[in-house]
Amino acid sequence: MTDRFLDKAYTARDAASTRTLYDAWSKSYEAEVAENGYATPGRCAAALKSFTSNMSAPVLDFGCGTGLSGLAMKLAGFEVIDGLDLSSEMLSQAESKGIYRKTRLVEAGAPLAHRPGDYAAIAAIGVIGAGAAPISVLHTLMKGLGKGGLLVLSFNDHALADPVNEAGLSEWTDCGGARLLFRKHGDHLPGINLKSNVYVLEKT
Ligand SMILES: C[S@@+](CC[C@H](N)C(=O)[O-])C[C@H]1O[C@@H](n2cnc3c(N)ncnc32)[C@H](O)[C@@H]1O
Repeated sequence: MTDRFLDKAYTARDAASTRTLYDAWSKSYEAEVAENGYATPGRCAAALKSFTSNMSAPVLDFGCGTGLSGLAMKLAGFEVIDGLDLSSEMLSQAESKGIYRKTRLVEAGAPLAHRPGDYAAIAAIGVIGAGAAPISVLHTLMKGLGKGGLLVLSFNDHALADPVNEAGLSEWTDCGGARLLFRKHGDHLPGINLKSNVYVLEKT
């Protein structure tokens, strides 16, 4: 029987073991999440599109994994997408899809290499929460947007169970640093009865 990574994916871990987990999961990730009806990328892409007027403006897919999030955005009509990830094995699968303008391997916690405003939108789909990236990543991504830039992200029910994650969003909205345009709870991985919130924030 093949190893079921979903059973261990949501345990808190440090960046080095996150990378090790995703490197090891890369070959079976798509089959495993497809089998469980992975719905969040399509929901995020549709939400982002509903607030986007220029579909040819570049979008950064942060934590792009094997490229399922980029694929959902491509299918929604976003024309220019770059991908970043911590795991070289996940990233090489993303590259093989031929949907990204460019891809880059990053270190956890490293500052973004682009200037604020280079991307009209940034996506962090299935990236922040137990077993993946910490909430500090949200602040890095918000700082990587120019005024009017959009961030689409998801928190699954495990991430929602830890108040630190939604508190990270409030840090931006409460002080007027960002406006919450969209928040909706819906299917994430219905096969394991896991849901997620999808959010769209606008940097003000
Ligand atoms: C559950 S997967 C989601 C991948 C893709 N966005 C999708 O929707 O299929 C989480 C991804 O986030 C990446 N990741 C976790 N922590 C990260 C960090 N600090 N910086 C960049 N990528 C990270 C992992 O390597 C993994 O590919």
